[in-house]
Amino acid sequence: MNARNTERGAWGSRFGFILAAAGSAIGLGNIWRFPYVTGNNGGAAFVIIYFAFVILIGLPVMIAELSLGRRTARNPVGAFAQLAPRSFWPAVGMLGVLTGLGILSYYGVIAGWTLGYFLKAVCGGFSADMSYIQSSEIFAQFVADPLQAVGLLFVFIALTGIVVKGGVSGGIERWAKILMPLLFVLLLLLTLRSVTLENAAAGLTFYLKPDFSKVTVNTLGNALGQALFSLSLGMGAMITYGSYISKRDNLVTSAAYVCLFDTLIAVIAGLMIFPALFSQNIPPAGGPGLVFETLPILFNQMPGGMLFGAGFFLLLTVAALTSTISLLEVVVAYLVDEWKWKRNTAVWMMALVAFALGIPSALSQNGSAFFTRLPIIHMGFLDLFNILLGNYSLTLGALLIALFVAFRWGIHQANQEITQMGQIFYGKTAWSILIRFLCPIAILGIFVYILLTRNYF
Ligand code: PFF
Repeated sequence: MNARNTERGAWGSRFGFILAAAGSAIGLGNIWRFPYVTGNNGGAAFVIIYFAFVILIGLPVMIAELSLGRRTARNPVGAFAQLAPRSFWPAVGMLGVLTGLGILSYYGVIAGWTLGYFLKAVCGGFSADMSYIQSSEIFAQFVADPLQAVGLLFVFIALTGIVVKGGVSGGIERWAKILMPLLFVLLLLLTLRSVTLENAAAGLTFYLKPDFSKVTVNTLGNALGQALFSLSLGMGAMITYGSYISKRDNLVTSAAYVCLFDTLIAVIAGLMIFPALFSQNIPPAGGPGLVFETLPILFNQMPGGMLFGAGFFLLLTVAALTSTISLLEVVVAYLVDEWKWKRNTAVWMMALVAFALGIPSALSQNGSAFFTRLPIIHMGFLDLFNILLGNYSLTLGALLIALFVAFRWGIHQANQEITQMGQIFYGKTAWSILIRFLCPIAILGIFVYILLTRNYF
């Protein structure tokens, strides 16, 4: 560990880093977003394309981000500035920092709903023989309450601030190590219940039996956007987390573990949701409310259901928290490194900004015309942010990061960083080819097509 690393903080162990990075990756993206995006995109064929993108684009870009971070021991802006001073490249880091703040704002709103659902489950807010229609109504009413939505956003962002204030190994790593494994066990239990429900097979068929006739370029765009979002790529979160990794650790196997765990959790979330949906004849293309509307019904079908329900929403809140801390950490690392702000000041100032920025999203479900349906684009703030930042900005960021590592910093330099201290780089040639050719061409192709056709992701 070098002197700079010690000052900035560093992961306590390689395992701790893997869990923290997996904690960043695993979150609402896996359990809330993946099932509804899969549902909207026709099921199994989408899942297969998603897998391909995780391996062929997600993993190489993650290796690129981690190596940039470890080489420079800097936040995204500082990392580009160090390797390409007096160029436009630091602006790419800045795009990442701003995207992080923007994602934090609306992600905090959905995480707030999760927290609210936990409290609702504890207080017995879901009746035992609830139908899908009732459950949808409960959800619609729940998110429409403006004070509650803003209050929950506030609580959630404050929780994020408290953990990030604790620093890298004392705050982020310590929490991730305990809570991520717990989430995994609970998910498995819920999945077991779901796949043994009546008519679960129809859900499994939708989820696992591909029908490629439904695949369009749009499906590819959605799969790419989802892969980047889910793996926390394209905005420098992994550059920042990479900057705290010890030179002794193997970046490539760490990245592979993070991709594996993240994909595993998404796959299991699908196994949990789709059989439950089909057993109740609920349409799979239900959109962002899917998880909130479906799961309370699943819990009711289990012995001690609301205990499971409360436990599940609590852990989902925690999974969201290990993601939001990485979003806030990017901005905080930037201010601490580049502007020499005190960590404490940076944390609370930026938490306040994220909270203020999140208010329009929190109010976007409550029927007040402006926030719910913006003029011209005819969508609410939350959807707008989700598309603009969660898809477009991450896609653009991933493209530029791949181009930077491949052609500006250079494959040779990156390889040197990765193979430091005698580390073995399995798949070095494959990575070089993917990051130089496949990643930029595929990302650019999809991006341009979607911009031209103005088909939102
Ligand atoms: N990967 C997180 C999830 O799947 O919920 C969301 C996220 C976190 C995206 C951090 C981007 C990021 F930098």
